[in-house]
Amino acid sequence: MSSLVVAIDGPSGSGKSSTSRGVASRLGMRYLDTGAMFRAITWWMLTHDVDVTDADAVAARAGDAIIESGTDPQAPTILVDGEDASVAIRSDAVNAAVSPVSAVPAVRTRLLELQRSIIEAGSDIVVEGRDIGSVVAPGAAVKVYLTADPAARATRRAAEAGGDVATTQESLLARDRIDSGRATAPLTMADGAVHIDTTPYTLDEVVGQVVALVEAVS
Ligand code: C5P
Repeated sequence: MSSLVVAIDGPSGSGKSSTSRGVASRLGMRYLDTGAMFRAITWWMLTHDVDVTDADAVAARAGDAIIESGTDPQAPTILVDGEDASVAIRSDAVNAAVSPVSAVPAVRTRLLELQRSIIEAGSDIVVEGRDIGSVVAPGAAVKVYLTADPAARATRRAAEAGGDVATTQESLLARDRIDSGRATAPLTMADGAVHIDTTPYTLDEVVGQVVALVEAVS
């Protein structure tokens, strides 16, 4: 029997990671951060002198990085060629390059395969990203699309990662534009997804709303 999948999509800073980890922890489920996988492959490209503005160059190396994602919501890990890259993948250089790299179809095909193998390899799982409900796991039992107003998103992200709110907001919106406009698997609200605007809610409240959706189907 296949396991239960909870797909959580939305733009940068909408609260996906905290919500997904909170839901997975509360329900004893695994957790997969697909954004970390795109960040990891981007970091690999940057550290292997691949010109990340050249889609052909990126496509040619898309299969070369070895990426391993942990699925513990309390301690998510990401290894690139065996090395812990959890901190490196959050750098400004990766923030600036990740959306163009993620728009390259060969990168998406490579990571789609990895994502599906992790999802299918074990127990119930919460998966967060941009195309989980639409492409990676269209059969997910629960699909959630999280949004928040841009100022709230930038304020939260700046508080987590440091940096000023205005620059953070610019960077988030630039990524959103590329993620929503790309030809392959753009950021979109999947058919059947429940939209939650997290702006007025605390993290606990949003986690509670998603947990209720999961409990309603299980
Ligand atoms: O979720 P996070 O902000 O870490 O994702 C970083 C980037 O990875 C996104 O801006 C997007 O370009 C890409 N991404 C994607 N598809 C996913 C998850 C992330 O294209 N499923």
